[in-house]
Amino acid sequence: MTETARLTLGDRTIDLPVIVGSENEHAIDISQLRKETGYITLDEGYGNTGACMSAITFIDGDKGILRYRGIPIEVLAEHSSFVEVAYLLIWGKLPNRPELESFRQLMAKHSFLREQLRHHFEAFPPGSPPMAVLSAVLNSMACFYPELLEAEDVDIFQEGAARILSKVRTIAAYSYNHDMGHSLVYPHPDKSFCENFLHMMFSQPYKDYEPDPALVRALDVLLLLHADHEQNCSTSTVRMVGSSGANLFASVSAGVSALWGPLHGGANVAVVQMLETILSRGMSVKDYVEQVKNKKEGIRIMGFGHRVYKSFDPRAKIIKTQAEAVLKKIHRDDPLLAIAEELEGVALEDDYFKERSLYPNVDFYSGVILRALGIPTAMFTVMFAIGRMPGWIAQWYEDRFITKGRIQRPRQVYTGPTELCYVPLDNRD
Ligand code: ACO
Repeated sequence: MTETARLTLGDRTIDLPVIVGSENEHAIDISQLRKETGYITLDEGYGNTGACMSAITFIDGDKGILRYRGIPIEVLAEHSSFVEVAYLLIWGKLPNRPELESFRQLMAKHSFLREQLRHHFEAFPPGSPPMAVLSAVLNSMACFYPELLEAEDVDIFQEGAARILSKVRTIAAYSYNHDMGHSLVYPHPDKSFCENFLHMMFSQPYKDYEPDPALVRALDVLLLLHADHEQNCSTSTVRMVGSSGANLFASVSAGVSALWGPLHGGANVAVVQMLETILSRGMSVKDYVEQVKNKKEGIRIMGFGHRVYKSFDPRAKIIKTQAEAVLKKIHRDDPLLAIAEELEGVALEDDYFKERSLYPNVDFYSGVILRALGIPTAMFTVMFAIGRMPGWIAQWYEDRFITKGRIQRPRQVYTGPTELCYVPLDNRD
């Protein structure tokens, strides 16, 4: 028998259908609620609201499970690559060898920026926030590819997606080098996705940067771990913007803006700032934790806590292991790693954090790897955006081409004044 939920409002009772997902998640379908009762639901922050049906990513926050298209994140981190995962997320299956090769070639072909686009960087003042630059340049790509704006055709979508996935690295590296006053290094189509990015970041016209393969792999895994995370703040933003019929460039540019905030992707910058503060002030980790707990300073342990994960974030576990291994491999000692590990240990033993189910999230240890790669702290959230791009594109595609969602338009409960008279300017107090 199909399950229903019964809702009683005064003397009226209605039955609401229950939708069951493939992982046995239950949802009460309220799509007819307002029509039938005149009521809406209120769920600030959407903690209990499903905004769409999606077949891309599954999270069980209580058990610490994350799967892309059914495949556990731990397996992908061990055996797969960022480019393969991008294909998996967007097209719903692992590519075979020819498919992967042609996807790689498509990205290599599209890694360059148009010269006019390159000149945009000169207009940004020194010290511009790299997330602002990234969002602006991604959006302005729409001006260069008008033929890709009416992406109702899968081939056109694929062209646009490949351009964004590939050029996001070029934009990030150009933005960094422009800000540093360095020469801009063109992409090298024969290099792998991550090698090419590091080449554009750190090569000089007279000297190629040759990274340790362990660092290249660590970056690849880091990006792969960020590739999608179902309906988080930035992904919901991408779907929301896309639901109006807006093009892919505009939608992912909005995703970058949403990711920027310190409660979301910006947390990876905030974590390093927090660890640096503890180090430079010579504070004990216990004192810092006490300050967080007394809430007077309004500070949190950045990189801790998650709306969905209430046991552990599987990405954080993998990143921590990677960070330790990479530092060992390149014989580097980062004092911030030691502080982060101590902070984690103290917090996990503390009732405040236990009672609120607060654990390290993806951002807690990622900065250690990024620092080892030589990425400046200000660029950390840009790295997150490069990693999250396949997820944003896959979710945009699903909404536009597969589920063909309606324009997203939440309701509200109005709390302002009821009807007032307009007071002419001369009569006002
Ligand atoms: N440190 C200390 N206390 C915390 C933390 C933290 N990092 N996170 C939550 N809490 C406390 C809150 O103060 C609150 O306590 P209270 O019940 O006494 O008021 C309780 O835990 C619940 O917190 P909420 O803010 O209601 O939880 P929510 O689910 O809305 O927020 C969030 C989740 C934003 C991730 C939060 O845990 C946070 O601010 N973490 C730090 C920032 C961070 O790391 N963000 C990255 C998240 S992962 C990502 O977006 C990629």
